[in-house]
Amino acid sequence: MNAESPDGALLPILVAPHPTLKLRCRPVGPADADAVRALVPRMFAAMYHAPGIGLAAPQIGTALRLAIIDLAPNDKRDPRVLVNPEIIAASPELATREEGCLSLPNMYAEVTRPARVKVRYLDLTGARHEIEGDGLLAACLQHEIDHLDGVLFTDHLSALKRNMIMRKLAKEQKAKVR
Ligand code: NI
Repeated sequence: MNAESPDGALLPILVAPHPTLKLRCRPVGPADADAVRALVPRMFAAMYHAPGIGLAAPQIGTALRLAIIDLAPNDKRDPRVLVNPEIIAASPELATREEGCLSLPNMYAEVTRPARVKVRYLDLTGARHEIEGDGLLAACLQHEIDHLDGVLFTDHLSALKRNMIMRKLAKEQKAKVR
């Protein structure tokens, strides 16, 4: 995977509260194949540069049901492209983990979700896959699929906690611009 996009420019990652982050994205169809194949390497470049372990298409301004993840530790690479991913099973048991998001830079909070999920998705060739896991993988899959429905991890928190994070983020972003 190229570290840089073809023109050398990294895709900017949208920061909340951007309206595109609240959209319900539409499924990737056959007509999107070329656009998606061109976009995915640029998404990986942006995610690795950030650095992050997951990135959803709406975070770079494209409202398609497309996300990428790479949970390999350190400089190992295990890139996975999730086209039209859907959760087909979720455990009744819940798990709480600290989450962050490239669209909420420097903000972290404990989020409670099903501990184990099974996800069905297509790869870039259109082949169908299933992935099942718990721990970080389960949280990451749910977090990225949430993005495709306009949901951020802060939407799983109390209004009080969510507002605190959004205020802090707005303050930091304002300081950054100056
Ligand atoms: Ni995120």
